[in-house]
Amino acid sequence: MIEMRLAEVAAVTGGHLHRASGAERVSAVEFDSRAVGPGGLFLALPGERADGHAFAAAAVAAGAAGVLAARPVDAPAVIVPPAPRAAGTALDEHDPDGAGAAVLAALARLARHVVEALPALAVVGVTGSSGKTSTKDLLAAVLAPLGPTVAPPGSFNNELGLPWTALRAGPDTRHLVLEFSARGRGHIAALAAAVPPRIGVVLNVGSAHLGEFGSTAAIAAAKGELVEALPAGGLAVLNVDDPLVAAMADRTAARVQLVGRGAGAGISAQDVRLDRGRARFRLVSPTGSASVALRLVGGHHVGNALAAAAVALELGGTPESVAAALGSATPASRWRMEVTERPDGVTVINDAYNANPDSMRAALAALAAVGAGRRTWAVLGRMGELGPEAGAAHAGVAAEARRAGVAELVTVDAPDYGAGRAVADVDEAAGLLAAELAPGDVVLVKASRAAGLERLAATLLVSGEPCSSTAHHSQARRAT
Ligand SMILES: Nc1ncnc2c1ncn2[C@@H]1O[C@H](COP(=O)(O)OP(=O)(O)O)[C@@H](O)[C@H]1O
Ligand SMILES: [Mg+2]
Repeated sequence: MIEMRLAEVAAVTGGHLHRASGAERVSAVEFDSRAVGPGGLFLALPGERADGHAFAAAAVAAGAAGVLAARPVDAPAVIVPPAPRAAGTALDEHDPDGAGAAVLAALARLARHVVEALPALAVVGVTGSSGKTSTKDLLAAVLAPLGPTVAPPGSFNNELGLPWTALRAGPDTRHLVLEFSARGRGHIAALAAAVPPRIGVVLNVGSAHLGEFGSTAAIAAAKGELVEALPAGGLAVLNVDDPLVAAMADRTAARVQLVGRGAGAGISAQDVRLDRGRARFRLVSPTGSASVALRLVGGHHVGNALAAAAVALELGGTPESVAAALGSATPASRWRMEVTERPDGVTVINDAYNANPDSMRAALAALAAVGAGRRTWAVLGRMGELGPEAGAAHAGVAAEARRAGVAELVTVDAPDYGAGRAVADVDEAAGLLAAELAPGDVVLVKASRAAGLERLAATLLVSGEPCSSTAHHSQARRAT
């Protein structure tokens, strides 16, 4: 961020100084008191287990310059005014008195102030039902060669993670990449008001969070808030292959760049083929074309890569430089289509970070591609947040697994699939797989985050060690 005095922070956030002179210098914000160092501004936020206000003194003892708080604390602070609480946002459940909403509103004002003080910064926002984090990582990979780039770790995409990320940008930063998430109408508009994007990418409108939104039309309305926030001089990058996204061209003042495989795309992929699940294609753009070979697994990354390419071409990249950067990008965020070869010849695809019907389809297609000619397993847990559609959505995924030629479907604590072999929990799944996996098999592990299937994936990887007892088990199996 730009360095500010605590008095300026008070002015920008509409708060008042408390036990502070105002001359304290602030150059970073942190929400984790253990991460705060000299020049840090500690955000006193309520949490699941504890209230950040209780850690104010500890944060300052650790070097923090001050605290952004909703009520008096025993440390130098800016006390911020109350703010309206928006339902369904980051802290909602753990914010009984609205202290969190007040601090987050102040954080949003601070982020806006800092970003506006950095006129050379290009803010790039990405949203969609699936692929935001993957595309954010691809954007970071294609933009970094063009200039200093700030992008969030993992999925920092809400009222806390997004402004926190924006405040990592400083006078030298050229590109700020942000992931915009929504659980309802107005969420993306609010995030975009805090950190206004110049370039907005919309990937797809699917059925993630259908339960909260009610309909795909409502999801499209919410995702489109990103392009509505763009200025006339900005750029909207829209996926031409998703009609609900392409239709967002009418909702923006910015120029529109359509990307995808379908007609009308200004930036497209030709001659797409999958090599053991990894896509190769020709990136075609108005300024030339170049060959891309992705390291990421799954045909769905073609669309993500095209969106990232459109942004990089807008910000000064050439087709060749963009193609090279796309080809060197490796999975940057954990548990998303992480492919590991076990020493015993079993391939594990860990996609346990999250799941919805669209990403399930993408993962099953990738499983089929990686597992061509081999025995394939899909070990699937529950998909959450689907509302009344949950039953039909699970049954649809089971049908999709059959169509994709999956040999063995195992469902973990998820009776809604109504097919495959049902096990009660992760331990039972691990037992079944230890007994039955054989060299050459390919196993996909996927579910919504709450199902905890990343633990199963971790167990599977340990099982592949040559000296573990389960490896002996699979050796024994090979002999039979
Ligand atoms: N364009 C896409 N279409 C469908 N599924 C995708 C796409 N991009 C990524 N995925 C899959 O969706 C899941 C979530 O990916 P992620 O990049 O974390 O998205 P998000 O941040 O939107 O949740 C992963 O299983 C990933 O493989
Ligand atoms: Mg994400």
